[in-house]
Amino acid sequence: MASTSPTVHAAVPTGSWWTQIAPVVLGLGAFSVYATWRAFEGAYFWASPYLSPFYSPLLDVHHHYWPYSPALLILGGPLGFRATCYYYRKAYYRAFFLDPPACAVAERKRNYCGETRFPFILQNVHRYFMYLAIVFLVFLWHDALHAFVFADRFGVGLGTLVLLVNVMLLTLYFSSCHSLRHLLGGKLDCFSCTNFGNARHSTWRGLSFLNEHHMLFAWTSLFSVGLADFYVRLVSSGAIRDLRLL
Ligand code: FES
Repeated sequence: MASTSPTVHAAVPTGSWWTQIAPVVLGLGAFSVYATWRAFEGAYFWASPYLSPFYSPLLDVHHHYWPYSPALLILGGPLGFRATCYYYRKAYYRAFFLDPPACAVAERKRNYCGETRFPFILQNVHRYFMYLAIVFLVFLWHDALHAFVFADRFGVGLGTLVLLVNVMLLTLYFSSCHSLRHLLGGKLDCFSCTNFGNARHSTWRGLSFLNEHHMLFAWTSLFSVGLADFYVRLVSSGAIRDLRLL
């Protein structure tokens, strides 16, 4: 008599887990090297009317108080926001610490304690970096809008579009943040039992939709910010001329 017991599927093969972390190592590694070089370079960050996002907001550009690259003055804000991001934490714990390398792959150490102890318990400051990120976004939107102004006249160059797409992707990355979703739409067990319940539920649903794509926005915004800086550098150094569209 044939057995009627349900089919038991074998576990997902884990032998190729490295194919999942290799792109993360390459992507984050390449960006880190490029961003570090550009942050320390301290030049070619302005090609009127474009300002590199690595240098925005531009502080003490004439070195009255700070003798080094202006990018280093502001680096901590965006770096802290990315480094403590819930998605990036998973990505770089796996890719760089191999702890664990992937789902269903054994731990390297038996005493793994995650983020319950110093120093990784400090990752919980992500919410405060999120507040700071709002300030950076305001400046980046200002820069993107200013990129439409060529010698007091309206215009559109390729750099305008590059900066505009970049700040839009950064806004999507910010809007899909887990902490933002919790802050604005979460923290509730019952939406109908609280003030503004309908509005909070709508907010939660909208942010949840964005949150499902947080990994996509994390990567696309990472590359766009690097490309935007690279474009400004090319124009500023005279390697290329900005393509004026309007
Ligand atoms: S969780 Fe990724 S930016 Fe907040």
